[in-house]
Amino acid sequence: MMLKIVRYPNPILRKKAKAVKRVTPEIAKLIDDMIETMHAAPGVGLAAPQVAKSIRVIVADVGSGAIGLVNPRIVSKEGKQTIVEGCLCLPGVEAPVERAAKVVVKALARDGEAVVVTAEGLMATVLQHEIDHLEGHVFIDRVKDPALIKFVDAKKEPKEELL
Ligand code: NI
Repeated sequence: MMLKIVRYPNPILRKKAKAVKRVTPEIAKLIDDMIETMHAAPGVGLAAPQVAKSIRVIVADVGSGAIGLVNPRIVSKEGKQTIVEGCLCLPGVEAPVERAAKVVVKALARDGEAVVVTAEGLMATVLQHEIDHLEGHVFIDRVKDPALIKFVDAKKEPKEELL
């Protein structure tokens, strides 16, 4: 089922999302719906607050298969990289953001099992961007120089990497 994506500055995007106590069938269904919504957008990542659910669930797919993570937390970071980001909640806005080049994330998977995900490159940026959403941060908060924020016509220049 497709979910409605909220737009910045909807206040839910500034709230700290609540931890999920148990991965219930409802949470598994939310993950499926979020993956469907992300693919349709199209985007490479989505966090539950972006679909008006203030809970700690994210999904990502950079082309190697979709994953859903519950209560994700970054346990280690390494290196630096800068990637031009966009966000499905801020259509037409893009800017370079410096983040860790490699991250290790611990979480629960869709089946409730504990997982450890090691990511680098675009996937590392996506995971950091989505986990930021759970803390009430949006990517423009991380832009070093506001002059680097670009406003593009989202309809004319659809960006592939929307998170
Ligand atoms: Ni985003």
